[in-house]
Amino acid sequence: MNPDTLFDQQLRNSLETRRRQGSLLIPPSPPAPGTVDFGTNDTLSLSSSRVLSHEFLREIEKNSGFAIGSAGGRVGGGPSAYLTETENYIASVHGAESATYFNSGYEANVAFWSSIPKKGDVIIHDEKVHASTNDGMRKGRASALIRFTHNDCDSFSESIKSACRKFPDIAAGKAVILFAVDSFYSISGDIVPIHRFVITASELLPHKNYAFVIDEAHSNGLVGPNGSGFASFWGLEAEMAIRIHTFGKALGVTGAVVLGSQDVKLALLNSARNLLFTTGPIFPVLAAIRASYNLITGQEGEKRRESLQKNVLHFYRSLEGHPQLERVSRLGILRVPLLAGWEERPFQTPIVVVYTQDGKSSSLANELERQKYRVQQGGYPFVPRGLEGIRIMIHADNTEQEIEGLLQAIMAWSCAHAEATTKAELRNKL
Ligand SMILES: Cc1ncc(COP(=O)(O)O)c(C=O)c1O
Repeated sequence: MNPDTLFDQQLRNSLETRRRQGSLLIPPSPPAPGTVDFGTNDTLSLSSSRVLSHEFLREIEKNSGFAIGSAGGRVGGGPSAYLTETENYIASVHGAESATYFNSGYEANVAFWSSIPKKGDVIIHDEKVHASTNDGMRKGRASALIRFTHNDCDSFSESIKSACRKFPDIAAGKAVILFAVDSFYSISGDIVPIHRFVITASELLPHKNYAFVIDEAHSNGLVGPNGSGFASFWGLEAEMAIRIHTFGKALGVTGAVVLGSQDVKLALLNSARNLLFTTGPIFPVLAAIRASYNLITGQEGEKRRESLQKNVLHFYRSLEGHPQLERVSRLGILRVPLLAGWEERPFQTPIVVVYTQDGKSSSLANELERQKYRVQQGGYPFVPRGLEGIRIMIHADNTEQEIEGLLQAIMAWSCAHAEATTKAELRNKL
């Protein structure tokens, strides 16, 4: 073992600082056998059920002469026929002119936002867009980034007006506003009010000098014809200049595409550094993505989407009907914002965030883990900054009994805390 160097000491100090501040992330250990999955992004259960494994083997058989490697960068060496075919197929599923493959959703967002907006352009983004969008925007050349309050139409509209006041070229239609939104917000589980945003933009920007960019990471495969996504569900494909669809959530694999025009594709191939300076995707990854698309666009996908929706509805219905919900909510022990209006939504997202009081989320998550329910836990980056809670991911293959069991465990924990809170209040009054 080498002696402790300055590098080692500094690293340890910064980890220690994080530990003291309570922001050191320790990944949970792999789930114990028998643990029920309410934590992974495999929301259609394509991967955990092994349905995807079987389809993957079929896809491999269909292409039995495959070469594994991509043999180099896709720009210099050119894409393989299978990559081109896969991109064209994915574009057709989503009703887009082109699809450009990236190794992950993170890469796709960074690529787009760091390379496409130009000096003079303004980006207006929801305050809760994914970290990868934030990272990309900050690396890019846009003249300004304006953040609006999450899902708030007044704030969205005020941001446009402010951009027009500050940047005469925007008001005159000589520079572009790019709007960045997510379809389903991973951090809060809610849905972008896209229609109102589209109408507001078209009213306030009569020169049509704007482009909507929507990140469909959490809606890909879950809604829309053949699982084609949120914009397709509403028939808004033409209103979205760019759609970013990732494969690491409901599709159960990895990778992503930027959907847009042929010019968008050519621009990315020319300027996205994480396409230009990296090796292209290898065959097994593409075959897994193809296999997943074979499933989501067929009957299997339809069946699993229905099952997922049914499960999320069962969760909300059971939570709403719980006799202790009113009490624990009144005492501030639990807060589930998405419970409000759940029946009115055209569809549900699989993400349910349950906020706890400060310092209590790990107690809840530990209790759930003890009862063999795995959820995502903690503060930021799993729930919005400054808040604490657990994030529950509901899956197509969760059973009603599992959902009820999870709810019972959450409510039993909450009631125990309610008792303790009430007793403490009584004591303080004495
Ligand atoms: C909204 C959103 N965009 C992008 C990503 C990144 O996708 P990937 O995991 O494929 O890098 C995520 C994943 O957490 C996400 O939630």
